[in-house]
Amino acid sequence: MKIQVQAWDQVVDYDPASGKSLYACLVEAGLPVPGDCGGKGTCGKCRFKLLEGELSAEAYQALAGQYPLACRARPQSDLRLAFLNMERDHRILVTGDRPALAGPKRWRQVSFKLDRDLLQAGTDLETRLVQELDVPSFPAQVWQGLEIQRDQTYRAIICDDQVLALEPQLADGRIYGLAVDIGTTTLAASLIDLETGEDVSQASALNPQIQQGADVLSRISYVMTEGGRGLKQLQQAIRRAIQSLIDELCQDADCLESAVYGLSLAGNTVMTHLALGIDPRPLGQSPYLPVFRSGQQLSAKAFGLRKIPSSAQVMTLPAVSAYIGSDVVAGAYAAGFSELGKRRLLIDIGTNGEMLVQDGDRYVSCSCAAGPALEGMMISSGMKAAAGAVEECLWQDGQFDLQVIGGEDPQGLCGSGVLALIREGLRAGLISYRGRIIDPESLAPEDCRRPYLKVDDQGKRSLQVAPQVSLTQHDIRQVQLAKGAIRSGVEVLLKASQLEAEQIDQVLVAGQFGRHLAEASLIKTGLLPEGFAGRLSYIGNSSHSGAYLYLMDQEAARGLEALARRINYIELSRLEDYDRVFARASLFPKLTRK
Ligand code: FES
Repeated sequence: MKIQVQAWDQVVDYDPASGKSLYACLVEAGLPVPGDCGGKGTCGKCRFKLLEGELSAEAYQALAGQYPLACRARPQSDLRLAFLNMERDHRILVTGDRPALAGPKRWRQVSFKLDRDLLQAGTDLETRLVQELDVPSFPAQVWQGLEIQRDQTYRAIICDDQVLALEPQLADGRIYGLAVDIGTTTLAASLIDLETGEDVSQASALNPQIQQGADVLSRISYVMTEGGRGLKQLQQAIRRAIQSLIDELCQDADCLESAVYGLSLAGNTVMTHLALGIDPRPLGQSPYLPVFRSGQQLSAKAFGLRKIPSSAQVMTLPAVSAYIGSDVVAGAYAAGFSELGKRRLLIDIGTNGEMLVQDGDRYVSCSCAAGPALEGMMISSGMKAAAGAVEECLWQDGQFDLQVIGGEDPQGLCGSGVLALIREGLRAGLISYRGRIIDPESLAPEDCRRPYLKVDDQGKRSLQVAPQVSLTQHDIRQVQLAKGAIRSGVEVLLKASQLEAEQIDQVLVAGQFGRHLAEASLIKTGLLPEGFAGRLSYIGNSSHSGAYLYLMDQEAARGLEALARRINYIELSRLEDYDRVFARASLFPKLTRK
């Protein structure tokens, strides 16, 4: 059966005998299907409009309302459909800011002809090639299966002075590598010319492990319950996703998979463990120990990739701890954190928040569970950044002006809209610094703010800015929990570095989600300290940038390893006064009404 999703010009095959849900089938095909519960049928985000075709009855369960859920639906015929929660920009942010390559390159290819000069009597080819190619050794296995012919030209592929492969010289002699950011939700990759450093093509995909859990903890739990079988399943899922990215990138660039000789993988510590098929359970239990932290390197054959040369190298980047992974180290390196003498902060705001402060030659990091509220999830009017979502608002002349994606009638709040509404609600005096929505009875009947305040039958207050868009007291509490987690992390790092916020010269916001949060919202809601105002910059997918540098540059590969070892990690939950810091951090700034 054929499945076609409006907005994606791709037709996916569905095999009814597989018994898979529509959601599973599309995710496996690498499509960014909306959904936050990993297909468990609890978030309702995978609802879709059926344009053509038939579905099994269970697609229409209570949560779905009038629309079917993709994670409950089994196609009964060819389908055409449109998701309701399709993101405005479903493209994943593949790249980020990165410095130019400066150090010696890790890769080179050298051509040589098996002519009379090379084939001298009284010696052997190994000795001659070690001299000619200036390498420490020339392993015999690279000749395996190769026809050795006089006057034939060959090329040797060399990484860090290690000869990986030997083959007859081809007309198109380019060699390629992939820099991959393995996110918990998405994978972002680019194909790179290993000699010039040129980004030849880019691709992204949903992390298929999402079917086994939306976050890292649920994936660890999956392995805890399913044991070795679950681990294998998660490893295969990521391996297949990487293989599909290789196929897609090579097709785009019109090159052969057999020309791909290197991959560098950056990701959080759970993702890199799973990619290498290493049991992540120690990461989920006290004392939260990673099995490895240093960068790993293995052959494509050992990693389990089939279409690229078996001697191609797969490298994972170094990490700091169980919860500060190689994605953070990669981002910090790409943002210049290995340059000593600076004072700066790197922050990745997402369901998990990770942050790192550099003070000269000292580095301290922490991570926190911020939850999904800042992404507009678990919020009563929350939705993805899709058409109809309020993404920004302004309290002006006694009313809220809403900025809605696609210019449509407002239908909900996406993450940036939630934060903007709280910011403006605080400014208008409708929300107190403790996060309480004010009592409408405390306002004069003619007060222009009064129509925005609602109280339900049970006395619960909300702030309603459009017929279908409101922020309840419970929503604000969810945001306060996320804010408390992130701000307390920042405060702990500043204190550990004996710095005031004003002494930080640069605040770098990394990642897919953070780029949508306006500086005004981050500062005026107190998610970040006032002292950071005017110093924020958004650096995109810095994890991918670090993976690129690690793949290409010898100095970067060494520098990343050294940086990872210099970063200290603070486990917030172990701090004695953490509850007090958290409680204070969850308050909003006291603002004056203007
Ligand atoms: S209900 Fe969450 S993905 Fe379907």
